[in-house]
Amino acid sequence: MPGAKNSVLKLMAACLMADGDFTLTNVPDIADVVTMSDLLSAIGLRIDHDTAHGKLTITNPGGLSLVAPYELVERIRASINVLGPLLGRFGEVRIALPGGDDFGSRPIDMHLNGLMQMGAEFTIRHGDVHAFAEQLHGADITLDFPSVGATENLITAAVFAKGATTIDNAAREPEIVDLCNMLVAMGASIEGIGSTTISIHGVERNALRPTTHAVIPDRVQAATYIAAAAITGSEVLVRGALPEHMEMLLRRFDDMGITVEPQHNGVLVVGPEKLKSIDVVTLPFPGVATDYKPLVVTLLAVGDGVGIVTENLYPGRFRYVDELGRLGANIRTDGHHAVVRGVPRLSGAPVRAPDIRAGAALVVAGLVAEGETVVSDVHHIDRGYDDLVGRLASLGADITRV
Ligand code: UD1
Repeated sequence: MPGAKNSVLKLMAACLMADGDFTLTNVPDIADVVTMSDLLSAIGLRIDHDTAHGKLTITNPGGLSLVAPYELVERIRASINVLGPLLGRFGEVRIALPGGDDFGSRPIDMHLNGLMQMGAEFTIRHGDVHAFAEQLHGADITLDFPSVGATENLITAAVFAKGATTIDNAAREPEIVDLCNMLVAMGASIEGIGSTTISIHGVERNALRPTTHAVIPDRVQAATYIAAAAITGSEVLVRGALPEHMEMLLRRFDDMGITVEPQHNGVLVVGPEKLKSIDVVTLPFPGVATDYKPLVVTLLAVGDGVGIVTENLYPGRFRYVDELGRLGANIRTDGHHAVVRGVPRLSGAPVRAPDIRAGAALVVAGLVAEGETVVSDVHHIDRGYDDLVGRLASLGADITRV
């Protein structure tokens, strides 16, 4: 399984935190890595991506520019992850307000409030956030909601703060654990990794050293291949998938009649003859991640009854439902809920990928839709999938990229 998009982008940003040569391995060959490389290069890092070996060599020569320009920031949400490292280490940064997937409002108030508690000051002008703090200090911060990005920015900023910082109601996604593990290898002092309370003891601004780190496998890509096996009633070994990173999702898959057996080198999936319909709720980790939801809705679209999917993170994240409707799915949405009535068979049609995960889910739907399905706007899928077409084709799917 290629490395996780939502991990590698943050690990790349963490290379701002020490001068010298870093190596990241198991790096996925995805467009967002290129965008993040462009952003970090603009700030002053030197980056070499050996796509053949999934390796990034990143040199931080020092003397960085503390500006993250709009043209790059607006392309990916993870660009906001340069805020904590730069503000913590250099006491100043100017960053355009971030963009990313177009699935609802994505404010950064929790990032800014937490940093203010650590002594930062902000002004927002002409679409940029200017952040200042001669020296951040430790603080006891309780997040309103376990935000992934806010947890990450507060951790990276706190690494250079004077004294101790505690983050309560912290997010605990596997990608945050991966970031913390890399920071600890660099010399940071972090306790409570993977729990809802994280404590960081600040170190001097030049105390960290570069490191070599392997990116954890991408659990959403893994779930995509599990869903592909499930919907086609096939048996597939998803190599490198870590079941402990998707426990709750695998429980729901089990309820749907999908067998997922952990093996020493991944998970073996056996799809049922007919998928059972169930209700699913998205929640922060360890709950079923919102990023899996388009896949779940797609499976339910051909289930044997009615399933209700409730979205708790992004109210607007049901736009792909209209596209699934073009394939014959029977789905009604109402606010945070989607009521999915299984149909016996989908039917192929031209559809558009509205974002990364929904795009991949439409491809999965196309595997069982009668006739031909043409998915356009696949640049969205390229942002987060490392050769989706090639991997599915190698499993026997009749799929080509045109
Ligand atoms: C990350 C993932 C994304 C995933 C999401 C939730 C990356 C690059 N992206 O996004 O794929 O879907 O976690 O698992 O890692 N919020 C606020 N104020 C804030 C921060 C967040 O209101 O300051 C809200 C957001 O609008 C959203 C919710 O909190 O409704 C969750 O956001 P968050 O956990 O921060 O997600 P991201 O880090 O943006």
